[in-house]
Amino acid sequence: MCGIVAYTGQQAVLPILLDGLKQLEYRGYDSAGVSVISRKRLKTVKAAGKLHNLEAKVDAKTNSHCGIGHTRWATHGAPTDENAHPHNDPSQRFAIVHNGIIENVDALKTSLGKSVEYTSETDSEVIAHLLAAQEGELLDAVRAVLVQLVGTYGLAVIDQQNPTTLVVARNGSPVILGIGDGEMFAASDMSAMIRHTNQVVHLDDGEIAELTPEGFKVVRMDSSVASKEAITLNEQHAHYDRGGHDHFLYREIVDQPISIGQTLSGRFDKRFSTAHLGGLNLEARDLIGIKRITILGCGSALFAGMAGANMIESLARIPVIAEPAAEFRYRNPVIEKDTLYVVVSQSGETFDTLAALREVRRKGGFVLGIVNSVGSTIAREVDGGIYMHAGPEVSVASTKAYTSMLVAFSLLALLLGRSRDLSPQQGTRFINELKLLPEQVEQVLKLEPEIKEIAEQYKKSQSAFFIGRTHGFPIALEGAQKLKEISYIHAEAYPASELKHGPLALVTKKTPCFVVLPNDDLLQKTISSMEEIKARGGPVIAITSAPHKAAPRIKSLAQSVLRVPDAGELTQPVLMAVVFQLLAYHSAVSLGRDVDQPRNLAKSVTVE
Ligand code: G6P
Repeated sequence: MCGIVAYTGQQAVLPILLDGLKQLEYRGYDSAGVSVISRKRLKTVKAAGKLHNLEAKVDAKTNSHCGIGHTRWATHGAPTDENAHPHNDPSQRFAIVHNGIIENVDALKTSLGKSVEYTSETDSEVIAHLLAAQEGELLDAVRAVLVQLVGTYGLAVIDQQNPTTLVVARNGSPVILGIGDGEMFAASDMSAMIRHTNQVVHLDDGEIAELTPEGFKVVRMDSSVASKEAITLNEQHAHYDRGGHDHFLYREIVDQPISIGQTLSGRFDKRFSTAHLGGLNLEARDLIGIKRITILGCGSALFAGMAGANMIESLARIPVIAEPAAEFRYRNPVIEKDTLYVVVSQSGETFDTLAALREVRRKGGFVLGIVNSVGSTIAREVDGGIYMHAGPEVSVASTKAYTSMLVAFSLLALLLGRSRDLSPQQGTRFINELKLLPEQVEQVLKLEPEIKEIAEQYKKSQSAFFIGRTHGFPIALEGAQKLKEISYIHAEAYPASELKHGPLALVTKKTPCFVVLPNDDLLQKTISSMEEIKARGGPVIAITSAPHKAAPRIKSLAQSVLRVPDAGELTQPVLMAVVFQLLAYHSAVSLGRDVDQPRNLAKSVTVE
């Protein structure tokens, strides 16, 4: 999705903007641009395509200390030079970059009159023209324009007549201020400025900030001053590099013993054999009053939520459903006092998840967040929550955040279980299983050579099936999602029990079937599904923790068997998920795909 970076200070601005845009690349984009103020003149350079096109066009010697940059993901208008941001007004006084969608663009254009000429097909350009029609101080002019807008924006503005001032604003699309020493930054995503500062201020919707090298001031739409507190993020620039690997995705896969350890760290209450989750804002009495749980998320977060639903039902015996956030909010859901709503999001900025959260809270529901990105919008708007502490996830396809979501859900399930019928002994047993996870993931990573071989063998497949039952089914869903996302091989997940009700018609010797086969009560039944596949000539790849005595039968049915450690019923999915991540990774690499930035996808989808 679109990205913004902005700077005012003593340093040369162009390298800061270009580097910031590079850090934003991972979010997905199709064009980019910068505007700077140099020798009292506004200079704007834009280019369709990847950043090197822009780099080739800018004059590296431009002397400037204040500017804005943007990576665009086309919504209104094709990805061309003209449609790339920044946009200027005709007199070249203002430059703006905008994330979001202006819904009343037609009405705004009508109000400006027919004589105005637009140089792009974007909705955003109208903002620059509206600014040119204002009088007075820059901050007031921006505010006067914003009150006319209907829609969403993360916005940054520079003004040739105020050459050291930036104005940024937020409504529905994130904007973060970064505080430096004699300099200020702003960005839509922390990655764009983490090299320079970790002291940040998150703007809230309806806030406008004026930034100068000396500091910042934030006002609301009614021009009242908002007092904002800076927070220090525990992130470092090193978290945003590939750590010596070819791809962020690979680094994030092999980082999982650490990221899972971080999610678990400090979260065990040994005395009461339960989880210690400090940010829930729920008392024991509230926990016992929960009658139902609804989990909401998008993409991999939704699949993690489905696995979480199983965990909570198993340990706490509370009915739980997981739903796509966007569908939930549009079906006018019934919100109940004794239902706990849980939103799950790596970025904490996914629009549909945020909108669902707001709908629930507006109707009086209590919402917990399971979020990775500290200080993100969802994290700030929920009633309580669990930070995943997985560290920044850069690759578009989710891996370590996904497994940390599973781990966060298992902690919540433990806490809810122990607030009900789960005995201290059962609680301790589950804690011990969780503690083993980092080490067990390490063991799964050692399967990489075998997984790579399997990826090589099936990479030319047109289609693949992923099947599993109960706790294994959400993992099959996520396995299919990973393969689709980054290798572009069509993949479908089904409960193993559903095979014979349809998909079996498509099984041939050309459709590999990946079978999630944990050592659980349904082992024999899932083995029967393998028989159904084998009978149709489909190659079976079993990912299993089944006991050794079942090994000969599994081997006789499967083309390949990947053995993972035998973890607990609820922790097993984490290990299986890692196998599927490596499978998707090696399939994608071998097919020459853009692993970190798959086509048509964005890291956090901040528009509807
Ligand atoms: C996008 C990404 C997915 C991600 C989903 C939810 O679609 O491509 O990888 O799972 O958004 O993102 P979130 O940040 O809310 O977890």
